[in-house]
Amino acid sequence: MTAIGRSKYSGVAMIFHWVIAIAVIVNWRIAEAAEHGATDAEKGAIMANHKALGITILVLTLARLAWRLKQKVPPLPDSYKAWEKAVARGLHILFYVLLIGLPLGGWLGSSFYGRGIEWFGMFSIPALPVGENFETGKAILELHHTGGSIFIYLIALHILAALKHQFLDKEGGITRMLPFGRA
Ligand code: HEM
Ligand code: HEM
Repeated sequence: MTAIGRSKYSGVAMIFHWVIAIAVIVNWRIAEAAEHGATDAEKGAIMANHKALGITILVLTLARLAWRLKQKVPPLPDSYKAWEKAVARGLHILFYVLLIGLPLGGWLGSSFYGRGIEWFGMFSIPALPVGENFETGKAILELHHTGGSIFIYLIALHILAALKHQFLDKEGGITRMLPFGRA
């Protein structure tokens, strides 16, 4: 294996990372936009996009994980301190948990309201067969909202860590996930 092969993620891993990263940030902005919709109808129409993109993120993440489990990923640089490696690994695992848990929770919460998902006007994904229970649905969506907000803070931390390793420690941070630059 070449030096580049060992220190950088593979092209497929990079594509999954950046497509999902952009989708998550867009989906968060869509949810925020829906909150500020003028009418319930407008909120619902914006939220339909949030749900459709959210389910897309779920499918992409499952594909990414299935693919990742069969690959070797580049080890974290030896120059990272032990606690940095532990925090990085823990955060990456938590990201996968959120990337699966948030869309599943959103789908489950909506299902308690008897609502399915319209996938960008192309096909429908039905509500899960849980029966109507607004109280439970509300509680699950509140948890989803809190989980989503925590995710955004953790993403900020993840970005700051990548910038620190890249520009302060000059160990190659972001370039490990980019097709160009020294890692
Ligand atoms: C916005 C949502 C984002 C999510 C959900 C996300 C998620 C992840 C996950 C799950 C990994 C672990 C990959 C693996 O080993 O399977 C990872 C790695 C990485 N991410 Fe992100 N990421 C996001 C945004 C960003 C941004 C904006 C940057 C750059 C500033 C970035 C830079 C990196 C780097 C450099 C790695 C490789 C870490 C290493 O092993 O050195 N990520 N990301
Ligand atoms: C990875 C995918 C997803 C992420 C990152 C995400 C994130 C979020 C965030 C951050 C909020 C709060 C918005 C705010 O602060 O105003 C939110 C709200 C919401 N999401 Fe998601 N979401 C995802 C997937 C889904 C899916 C698949 C559904 C349903 C099928 C869904 C249904 C909802 C609903 C109904 C709300 C409003 C909850 C409330 O505050 O009452 N989400 N989501």
